Amino acid sequence: MISCRNTIRLTLVPVTNKSREQLGKILPAYSADMGSLLPILEAVQQRFGYLPEEAMDEVARFLGIANSTVYSVATFYAHFRLAPTGKRIIRVCRGTACHVRGGARILRELEKRLGIKPGGTTADGEYTLETIACFGSCALAPVMVINDRVYGRLTTGKISQILDEPED
Ligand code: FES
Repeated sequence: MISCRNTIRLTLVPVTNKSREQLGKILPAYSADMGSLLPILEAVQQRFGYLPEEAMDEVARFLGIANSTVYSVATFYAHFRLAPTGKRIIRVCRGTACHVRGGARILRELEKRLGIKPGGTTADGEYTLETIACFGSCALAPVMVINDRVYGRLTTGKISQILDEPED
């Protein structure tokens, strides 16, 4: 689901020549009209994991629209990322069930442990921290997901152990 972003982060990151070649393979699959903007941005993000600045410029050229139009769309939807993410994306639930069962404490513990706020990525590129409204796993509250793995009935004491787990 795509939802509106409340705050706008503009940390634009350039692409390499190799990535530019890959972008050149994406664009010809679409018609050059405004109706293609969202699907193209989806495809670019799927390929790169985020929307590099030069990719957005190239999309604007391809569609014959202003760069600012592409940036406006990219920053309007929370779904789109403007910077690379860490290897592990931690999503902490901020839904009501999780909140009443200590979700805010879980988020604070993660912020303290990782030294980042939601939307941030650790300097070593290991973790990105995000929040989400509800995972639909309220019976397991409080809940967080690391990449695709769900962790339920969390306590602050479990956070260190989970972060120290080796990657799958
Ligand atoms: S409120 Fe957290 S999973 Fe539903």
